[in-house]
Amino acid sequence: MKGATHGGDVYAAARESGRDVRYLLDFSASINPLGPSPAARRTIARANEWLCHYPDPACWDLRQALATFWHRSPEEFLIGNGSTELIHLLPEALQIRHLLVMGPTFSEYASAMVRVGGQTSSVMAARADGYRPPLEQVLVAPDVSIDAVLLCNPNSPTGQACDAAEVRALARQTARHGQWCIVDETFAEYCEQVSIVPEDLPARTIVLRSFTKFYGLPGLRVGYVVANPRIITRIKSQQPPWSVNMLAQRAAQAALQDSRHSRRSLRFMEQERARLVNGLERLPGCSLFPSAANFLLMELPARLKAARVVSLLRRQGLLIRDCSQVPGLNDRSIRLAVRSRADNDRLVRSLSEIVGRSGA
Ligand SMILES: Cc1ncc(COP(=O)(O)O)c(C=O)c1O
Repeated sequence: MKGATHGGDVYAAARESGRDVRYLLDFSASINPLGPSPAARRTIARANEWLCHYPDPACWDLRQALATFWHRSPEEFLIGNGSTELIHLLPEALQIRHLLVMGPTFSEYASAMVRVGGQTSSVMAARADGYRPPLEQVLVAPDVSIDAVLLCNPNSPTGQACDAAEVRALARQTARHGQWCIVDETFAEYCEQVSIVPEDLPARTIVLRSFTKFYGLPGLRVGYVVANPRIITRIKSQQPPWSVNMLAQRAAQAALQDSRHSRRSLRFMEQERARLVNGLERLPGCSLFPSAANFLLMELPARLKAARVVSLLRRQGLLIRDCSQVPGLNDRSIRLAVRSRADNDRLVRSLSEIVGRSGA
């Protein structure tokens, strides 16, 4: 039975290896390798000012900043303790009992359904299509027994994205059938042209975004939903008070407004992802899949299992994501975050040795 795990548990890896977290290279969570914006770091240094009060339960300033950033109204935003909290609020808030996901994808959508005793069905992307999300299948043969469709765009752990026009077509179709359309745009900062947030959202459409990946703030836990204000009110009614702390609210706002760091981060990713692809493509017997995000899905040569490679790299302090348990992927699938130049070179060297020793 394939089970759900996540990358990024550096603390468990540190305990297990006796190494300090600082000496681990985490390729298993895909976080901006340039780190958070300098403005966000300066804001965090002022944390003392906010420790003696409850956080703003309305997340007022961050919602105003998001409204300005996206040219939308603040009432269309709800901030959460990471987008994970919001994913878990949706089934109850929107009375979702049967969710359709386009797999292979992030496991937390199905976990959220399990919590409410609901059901998750999947339409799987084909390996031959480079795991492009199978949007056409859902558009051509809508399943009216489901009450929500979820698309992760770009998708994790596979990396491909659908364009905005296709996503809007999906959202219009689901609305016609009285279904919800949930679009997880957690990695969309890396390919903003695929986002549906800049335009009017079709009815019953909910977009999830995060400050974890591109803005590099996984430890603070900030994500948000963009949707019609009536939907926002329904989701908010399920949220515990004060779930987003004040450091998170202030740092996220500073990060959002630091357009210089955002531009640098995008430029860096474009160049470094291409360089890493180039290095990995030289590994004999490995297959790489196209990615619009800050990670790459890779298949190891026939003789090498993902679990074995993950464990060999872990001994060297390199953490990568084992995707063999992700429904729809095979036991040679791994996901690699794009990190700094030096870190990526180190990973390619280590992988090259492992693949070479395996005789692939
Ligand atoms: C596709 C996707 N969505 C959502 C999340 C949750 O992110 P966070 O709760 O940190 O915002 C993740 C985290 O790995 C993810 O990969």
